[in-house]
Amino acid sequence: MPGLVIANWKLHGSLALVAEFGQQWRALPPLSDVEVVVCPPTPYLGAIREAFEGMRLGAQDCADQREGAFTGEVAVQMLGEFGCRYVIIGHSERRSLYGETDAQVARKARLASAEGLHPVVCVGESLEQREAGQEVKVVSEQLLGSLAQVPCERLVIAYEPIWAIGTGRTATPEQAEAMHGVIRRCMQEHFGAVGAAIPIIYGGSVKPENASELFGCENIDGALVGGASLEAKSFWQIASAASAGRA
Ligand code: 13P
Repeated sequence: MPGLVIANWKLHGSLALVAEFGQQWRALPPLSDVEVVVCPPTPYLGAIREAFEGMRLGAQDCADQREGAFTGEVAVQMLGEFGCRYVIIGHSERRSLYGETDAQVARKARLASAEGLHPVVCVGESLEQREAGQEVKVVSEQLLGSLAQVPCERLVIAYEPIWAIGTGRTATPEQAEAMHGVIRRCMQEHFGAVGAAIPIIYGGSVKPENASELFGCENIDGALVGGASLEAKSFWQIASAASAGRA
């Protein structure tokens, strides 16, 4: 299975950044054995589709409905029409800032999967929960709640410990690998043998400096990258480390 490296631009970017990033990206050597995805703010999807070569498109969220009176929402089939193959669902920022529940996350993931997209379902514990030794319990419960009736085809899990997001404090490879192993077993128990093949990617202060070490871990299949994905060179270096890890 090739590595999977996803850029989450969050609420950053502009048409100028899209043009600059695209130009720099095209000047970098092409990568093999890695699926590279960019999830920009929704209005830039069209421009990115034209400017970025060799990258898949993704979205940062989707509606938990297909259509109707839901002002401000964007439905999975609309994302599909704009060429999205992936959609991040249940990011901790959506869970904590917008009150998204596991049940909503599961509804979104079911809709995305039914539309033929890859739902990238995010889970992760807070610092308080880790310090209280509850991280395995929290992540396992989040997984089961967020995957209710979600099929395993096309599913991707992102482990993002909240304390490592945007803080510069990465989980050590040992901490990340331990949780990825827990998630792998959880997926096998939930889906049977096929669950073992679900890609599990890590997010939280992934940088060119720590990427190789993380990708060297058995159960880390790629990364969900925030800050370092806004700069073409550093994102390429991370994707390149994932590609080397698979070679
Ligand atoms: P950073 O890479 O900026 O820590 O963000 C991680 C993240 O939340 C990606 O979804």
